[in-house]
Amino acid sequence: MSSESGIIVTRDLEKVYPGNVRAVEGISFEVRPGEIFGFLGPNGAGKSTTIGILTTMLRPTGGEAWVDGLSVGEDPEGIRRRIGLVFQESTADDELTGRENLELSAALYGVSPAETRTRIAELLPQLSLEGAADRMVKTYSGGMRRRLELAAGIIHKPRILFLDEPTLGLDPQGRTGIGEAIRDLRHRFGVTVFITTHYLDEADALCDRIAIIDHGKIQALGTPSELKDRIGGDVLTLVPQDGSRDLTEVLAKVPGVLSVRRHETGYRVKAAKGEALVPTLVQTCFSQGVPLATVALKKPSLDEVFLEFTGRAYREEEGPSATDAALRMNQFRGRRR
Ligand SMILES: Nc1ncnc2c1ncn2[C@@H]1O[C@H](COP(=O)(O)OP(=O)(O)OP(=O)(O)O)[C@@H](O)[C@H]1O
Ligand SMILES: [Mg+2]
Repeated sequence: MSSESGIIVTRDLEKVYPGNVRAVEGISFEVRPGEIFGFLGPNGAGKSTTIGILTTMLRPTGGEAWVDGLSVGEDPEGIRRRIGLVFQESTADDELTGRENLELSAALYGVSPAETRTRIAELLPQLSLEGAADRMVKTYSGGMRRRLELAAGIIHKPRILFLDEPTLGLDPQGRTGIGEAIRDLRHRFGVTVFITTHYLDEADALCDRIAIIDHGKIQALGTPSELKDRIGGDVLTLVPQDGSRDLTEVLAKVPGVLSVRRHETGYRVKAAKGEALVPTLVQTCFSQGVPLATVALKKPSLDEVFLEFTGRAYREEEGPSATDAALRMNQFRGRRR
């Protein structure tokens, strides 16, 4: 056994594909029970490879990983019974109805017919698919299809749900719907969620904690707000009604202010917790005889975090890389590469 607290634990995990493609280069992290853990990174970062190892479909070439206390090397069967998996690519069968797809998944996971009926009745309304259950999947929107695949991934009540890019290619509305469904599933079933995405804003809104992965290495790990706090603070923009007097030095002395810069129309104030300082700053300006016209607070975004930790700007691209189709093929066949 590996760890006291982590429901997923990796230690120096590594995957080198033939041809010396170093997809995962010694990553170590722990996922806590019940959390939504985001694995965030651009195309080719190593996200699907990591999911492949944790779901026992790919063999690591170095290091170790445990899922629910079981070693991926020693007890792949045990792990498979405890997890649900939604792939980066769509796996629902177009020519079957939503309900039939769910029945098929239940059968693959070994769920009894009686339990299957109960679970389907439970899951359809939770994923807003009641009305569509008996229609063929080819009539579904992208968002409905992804929600169906989410339902299929948890039909057997897994302890841990792995989602590889569940919102890829969906419009913002569809992405929001999936995010809500994931949060709701966690809330109802206490399932731990391991999700990969390359949408920064999505990871920010959905995940309890995020690991930023790039070139097979974890570049940063923490709650979204911890990560953003690490880059040096919020930015407050103060615009006085009348800008004649210079308050730079007065503002710089306010406890909690990290730096102040005056520009043409006002002041740019950096602070670790900007929202806590707004009342004091407003009051300070007022008592100096310089009432403010506007105050704006901008929290740093994950874009800036990515830039800070990787030294380059983040580009959101579409489309899966090579791993995913191959992983899907091996889904229930018990084959490993
Ligand atoms: N079977 C394979 N053989 C050789 N190289 C591979 C294989 N599968 C993936 N790779 C390479 O390993 C690296 C990581 O790929 P991976 O699919 O894990 O990235 P990802 O973060 O999931 O990317 P995406 O956002 O495109 O899905 C990439 O350079 C990829 O080209
Ligand atoms: Mg991928």
